[in-house]
Amino acid sequence: MRADDHAEDDLPSRELLERLREAEETLDAIRRGEVDAVVVHHPDGPSIYTLESADRPYRVLVEHMQEGAVTLTGEGVVLYCNQRFAALLGLTRESMIGRSVVPYLERADAMVMAALLSPGADAGRAAEVTLHRVDGQSIPVTLSAVDLPFEPGMPRLICIIATDLTHARQRSHELAATNAQLAGEMAERRSAEDRLAVALEAAGMGSWDIDLVLGAVTISRQAEGILGLDDIGAAARTLDSLALPFLANEQAEVRAAFEQAMTTGLLDFERRVRPKVEGGAHRWVHVIGRTYQRDGVPSRLVGVVSDVTERRLMETQLRQAQKMEAVGQLTGGIAHDFNNLLMVIGGSLDVLESALPEDNPKAQRFFAAAKSGVERGASLNQQLLAFSRRQDLQAQPVCVDDLLRGFATLLSRALGETVSLELPQPARRWYCRSDPHQLETAILNLAINARDAMPHGGRLTILTSLTTLTPREALAMAAEPGSYVVIRVRDSGTGMTPETAARIFDPFFTTKAMGKGTGLGLSQVYGFVRQSGGFVSVTSELGQGTTIDLCLPHTDEVASAAPSATAAPAAGDGRVLVVDDDINVREVSVAMLGALGYVTLEAGDAAQALTILARRSDIDMVFSDVIMPGEINGLDLARQIRETYPKVAVVLASGYTAQLQGDKGAPTDVEVLRKPYSRAALATALTQAKAAKS
Ligand SMILES: Nc1ncnc2c1ncn2[C@@H]1O[C@H](COP(=O)(O)OP(=O)(O)OP(=O)(O)O)[C@@H](O)[C@H]1O
Ligand SMILES: [Mg+2]
Repeated sequence: MRADDHAEDDLPSRELLERLREAEETLDAIRRGEVDAVVVHHPDGPSIYTLESADRPYRVLVEHMQEGAVTLTGEGVVLYCNQRFAALLGLTRESMIGRSVVPYLERADAMVMAALLSPGADAGRAAEVTLHRVDGQSIPVTLSAVDLPFEPGMPRLICIIATDLTHARQRSHELAATNAQLAGEMAERRSAEDRLAVALEAAGMGSWDIDLVLGAVTISRQAEGILGLDDIGAAARTLDSLALPFLANEQAEVRAAFEQAMTTGLLDFERRVRPKVEGGAHRWVHVIGRTYQRDGVPSRLVGVVSDVTERRLMETQLRQAQKMEAVGQLTGGIAHDFNNLLMVIGGSLDVLESALPEDNPKAQRFFAAAKSGVERGASLNQQLLAFSRRQDLQAQPVCVDDLLRGFATLLSRALGETVSLELPQPARRWYCRSDPHQLETAILNLAINARDAMPHGGRLTILTSLTTLTPREALAMAAEPGSYVVIRVRDSGTGMTPETAARIFDPFFTTKAMGKGTGLGLSQVYGFVRQSGGFVSVTSELGQGTTIDLCLPHTDEVASAAPSATAAPAAGDGRVLVVDDDINVREVSVAMLGALGYVTLEAGDAAQALTILARRSDIDMVFSDVIMPGEINGLDLARQIRETYPKVAVVLASGYTAQLQGDKGAPTDVEVLRKPYSRAALATALTQAKAAKS
């Protein structure tokens, strides 16, 4: 043991320097660890500080700290460990001394430990390893290693502090689990929102949300589109502005509905919004919402909006189709019974005719009137049968464009000089399956209606195109899904009120003066198209003209080469006398014959016809209606011509051809044409009648 003395203050400077030197030597000795104790002189006596007393606080700290502390040799053998380190491994301190720590490490961690123990490593190195307790439990720890100062002759010593990470790991696991749960919930919520957005979009709906306290309105982009709010701007979004897209005269009711929803809790209305484009059609929107309360006060009004224009249109179409179906069935039943009655009456009249006294002109007049009544009844019945889809149709592939072009001259004549006919070239020559004669009749009916709707002239356009019906659209049209050839007949006429448009296909519905229209024209059109498996649609607005679409099933089959009505009829030549009391019918016949190449003359009844025949010798043929007022009907006229002018060919037209067959019927060389007839049928009848004479 070495002692150092410190002298009094008033010593000479040499002695002072000597003491300073001694003090420095003492300090060096302490630094080198060569000193065990220091004696310090105080005025009240000397104090001794040993190194042991200097270390004590550290020892207490090391013994009681929460971290494990261990001193190891370079090979990992324990020289010292605190209570906590032994406890970490589930061992006593005594049993640890002299053992290697390596067996208590996870196999993979042995390398980590070797690195911690290796000489020359960094002073403050650390690593995470897993300790294996004797009871089999695993404990994650951080090991921080420090080399002890090397002393010659002593083994290399390493001090390690082991911090138990169990709780920290657990907490971070808990935290990670909480985070994961939170992230999961957020993802779930986001995906629920996405799903809702996708579902709303798929359903064609938009959402809106009104904060009733702040008066702020939030609207989804889709809802803006549906309401046509795009151009109003976000700043103007208030509860009141929600009513603005609706028709001006309906806005007050829309506002009232929103107000009411605050007390009733529910909002549900369908109203019309302004068209998106100037002059466009109104659209219908359906608004549904619900009010939410906070502390008994309405705080939020939330809901969806959808465009239901198409649905409403389909409902109307379906109602119309159902109505027509019902009326058709009723009419069909009546027409069938009516036909039987006419057969009985007509047949009985035939039998009675032979018993008719020839010298009783009054009885003969009544008899003729009765027969003519039967004929008129039969022709009406024919249209009723067409409407109720009970006529004999001869469906075949028809090229619509060819049919229209072959028929254009006749249509133009039927339309008169003040109405121009336009037939734009279609994109393709579409074929539909239909009865060409009935199709011509239907188009002629539409053209005559259009002409009547354009008393001061105008334009009739006939366009053809192809359309495809989806199953949904097909349901609304009561038709089959698939492709249809559309024949669009558009006029620039008076148009119709919605009330008229809703009834035009009804049998006997007419707005024309008594005797001017039967109201069966469009019934024929409707019944024929439906029977052909197609459908008809009408668009009309008062003062804006009318468009009627005939949609007939499309076919890829090309019309057969066999003679068909669509093939251009043989050009006629010769002079034909047309006899008919109905000026309209006569007009059409003259137009048809002119289109076929014949020169025509006209007579209003049989007597007039006979006068013309007596005067001229250049008449090749007579084309006459059977039922006509006056003494002589068409049949009698035919008989007289056969006797007086055997070279003149005769064609009779009648709505009830059955009557013209048999002994009492038309002479055998007289051709009979059933009304309504097509131009092709007329051409054939004339050619055959002419052939019979040559
Ligand atoms: N193109 C049209 N423009 C305006 N109104 C039309 C048009 N087509 C038909 N209508 C209306 O529909 C009604 C029914 O037409 P439909 O062809 O069935 O009978 P009609 O023309 O009155 O008589 P019919 O054709 O038997 O001589 C017409 O009276 C008319 O009011
Ligand atoms: Mg008509």
